[in-house]
Amino acid sequence: MRGKDVVLDGVEITYPNGFTAVHQTDLTVEAGEFFSILGPSGCGKTTILRAVSGFVAPSRGAVRIGGEDQTGLGPNARPTALIFQNLALFPLMPVWENVAFGLEARGVAKRARRARAEELLALVALADQADKLPGELSGGQRQRVAIARALAVDPAVLLLDEPLSALDLKLRQHMRAELRAIQRKTGVTFIYITHDQGEALTMSDRIAVMNAGRIEQIGSADDVYSNPVSAFAASFVGEANQFAGRVTAQDGALAQIETAHGSFLGRNPTGLEVGSEAILFVRPEHTGAGAGRNSLTARLQRRDLEGPFVNLYLATRSGAQIALHVPNTGAVDIGAEGDVSVGFEPEQAVVLPAGPVARTGADIAAQ
Ligand SMILES: Nc1ncnc2c1ncn2[C@@H]1O[C@H](COP(=O)(O)OP(=O)(O)OP(=O)(O)O)[C@@H](O)[C@H]1O
Ligand SMILES: [Mg+2]
Repeated sequence: MRGKDVVLDGVEITYPNGFTAVHQTDLTVEAGEFFSILGPSGCGKTTILRAVSGFVAPSRGAVRIGGEDQTGLGPNARPTALIFQNLALFPLMPVWENVAFGLEARGVAKRARRARAEELLALVALADQADKLPGELSGGQRQRVAIARALAVDPAVLLLDEPLSALDLKLRQHMRAELRAIQRKTGVTFIYITHDQGEALTMSDRIAVMNAGRIEQIGSADDVYSNPVSAFAASFVGEANQFAGRVTAQDGALAQIETAHGSFLGRNPTGLEVGSEAILFVRPEHTGAGAGRNSLTARLQRRDLEGPFVNLYLATRSGAQIALHVPNTGAVDIGAEGDVSVGFEPEQAVVLPAGPVARTGADIAAQ
């Protein structure tokens, strides 16, 4: 198996009812890459997968796979395989026949089918399960059977539409590593759709952050988490404390922002000018007890122990909600009563153009 690259060249997708689910998009997924599309429900993730797999035709632009224009080709004529959220295995068919199902339709003889199924089951670490029925497997094992089945037809590109969402948390976390390993071993291009940032951050070579039919940012996990370029990306990927206001000064790579909760300095990656409406974002793990170069006075509202971390939720008199994630070293408490100082460094904060946000500090505190 060898992966192929996938190019969306000016792809726009409008459904027959006139709704444009994906606005003009240019995107290149490299051959053999583990690429995730991360975004909230309804943002157009599945629609993009449908266009790549051939279930939906772009209203504009073209999809190319391995350099070949796919326009006019149906799903069976494309070098892709799709794994849905609710995988359907045949319950009365042994595992190996489920895996080899697509090969029978292609006229492959039974012995060769069995051999291929065993090879794929070994790949997904189910070598000894070939003769069981799907009902005799765990949820994670069934998911791996579905992956083996999708790989049986030798796709160059595997499209995975939230394949882990039906599994419980522990299994989902375990399957992340499994999926990554399977992708590495096969070299097949994976396009993985999820609204779970943890999945996207842990598995992907690169991530596209999508909102309302548009890709807002593409980058490595580090890049997207540490250097968000839009208010949506900053608020959707991970948690962030946020303060909306107006830029009052530019100072080299930094911008000063005046907000209802104080005046703060943060990085200015998009070159916002004085007078721009903006939002400052700073991660809870970069917000600390004690005043930094940016500081606020706040009162503790809630303290959640999360094993290695303690999450502290504070509120200012002016109504700002602030989250702190501090390592649980036993010396973290900031005083349960009265006003305390919290702060953050300008280099750890980012000032971005005002725009839709995914989550606010108030949402986090109210969770
Ligand atoms: N057949 C259709 N006709 C009209 N609109 C559609 C159709 N299918 C999807 N949509 C709309 O297009 C938008 C994008 O849908 P899509 O299924 O791509 O979202 P998604 O990002 O996969 O969401 P989820 O995470 O909930 O699966 C949504 O607003 C949806 O209502
Ligand atoms: Mg979807």
